[in-house]
Amino acid sequence: MPRQVPYVDLPGQHRPLKAELLAAVEGVLDSGQFILGPQVGEFETAFAELCGVRHAVGVNSGADALELALYALGLGPGDEIITAPNSFIASATVIAAAGARPVFADVREDFNLDPAKVEAAITPRTKALLPVHLTGRVADMDPLREIAVRHNLKIVEDAAQSVRAEYRGRRAGAFGDLGCFSLHPLKTLNACGDAGIVTTDDAGLAERLRLWRNFGLRTRDDSVLWGFNTRLDTLQAAILLVKLKHLETWTDRRRAHAAYYREALARLSPVLCPIDLPHERPVYHTFIVQAERRDELKAFLAQRGVGSAIHYPVPIHLQTVARDLGYKRGDFPVAERQAGRILSLPVYPELTEEDLAYVVEQIRAFYGA
Ligand SMILES: Cc1ncc(COP(=O)(O)O)c(C=O)c1O
Repeated sequence: MPRQVPYVDLPGQHRPLKAELLAAVEGVLDSGQFILGPQVGEFETAFAELCGVRHAVGVNSGADALELALYALGLGPGDEIITAPNSFIASATVIAAAGARPVFADVREDFNLDPAKVEAAITPRTKALLPVHLTGRVADMDPLREIAVRHNLKIVEDAAQSVRAEYRGRRAGAFGDLGCFSLHPLKTLNACGDAGIVTTDDAGLAERLRLWRNFGLRTRDDSVLWGFNTRLDTLQAAILLVKLKHLETWTDRRRAHAAYYREALARLSPVLCPIDLPHERPVYHTFIVQAERRDELKAFLAQRGVGSAIHYPVPIHLQTVARDLGYKRGDFPVAERQAGRILSLPVYPELTEEDLAYVVEQIRAFYGA
């Protein structure tokens, strides 16, 4: 039986934390405060501090974080919002859900929005940019912010994959009007179920988000807007507070694993690894290589017990739901070329050096190296 290196291993993450997690859950069960209990506020304060912003508002998912952000900024019908075509579908879904039009711009080799392509996609109806910090790497925010200022656009960061990621010394969630995070089980800071959070320095926006997430209720008996029910569960907040204590160590391990792969695969020409520029500190939510004969490599690795994934095989503008937006194959050549070559390798903190060596050995074996 060959070594097994699954693509993810959540039971492996939880095993050493079980006593702490169960104690946190027990605390909530004993308090009975399941909705907006004290752990929610405690987690929001800790998360805002982590991102270097004044406010954070916990919600039910990353998608809800993004959708509420658009509502809180007053974006909706008639507006165009520019985002990346290579993201998870949610980045565009939320724009359509708010009644606005998703507009795409191509990405660069680092999988993030190309500012020049963003600028070219701006029309008089463009009201906001929704850059995605894909793979745990912050998008090139200096030029994007400069474009936003020049064209009077809002910025909503899709930071779903980027808790703790840094760009020129600042963390994801601190660059836009609002920063939106997913705390889904597969994210780097992960609840045991759905969860999300929005960050901002603007007290007024934070207050509006608190209304939007809770039926618009200003007091128990007075609602001031047609809001949603999308609150962060107290149980999830209690779990997230436990995990937050380990996030720095986990992030360091992800970065170390990325460095290991980069070094070990450096001279294997059919496989291109992502690089870190001096001003970035990505967190490697995913470690995505671009590989020749990608599908064959993926199948070979699976046979040898190595899990891998593709984030994402079909760019959003080519998915069925986007038909009506009028895009066609060839519109975003970089994103489309990457979609056929990308492969996410296991990079979670619990991997051992033997696991990583085994993954590299199998990749080298595939290419006959
Ligand atoms: C880039 C991106 N945006 C948005 C989301 C949506 O987050 P959630 O699944 O928590 O709704 C995800 C993750 O699923 C994501 O990866």
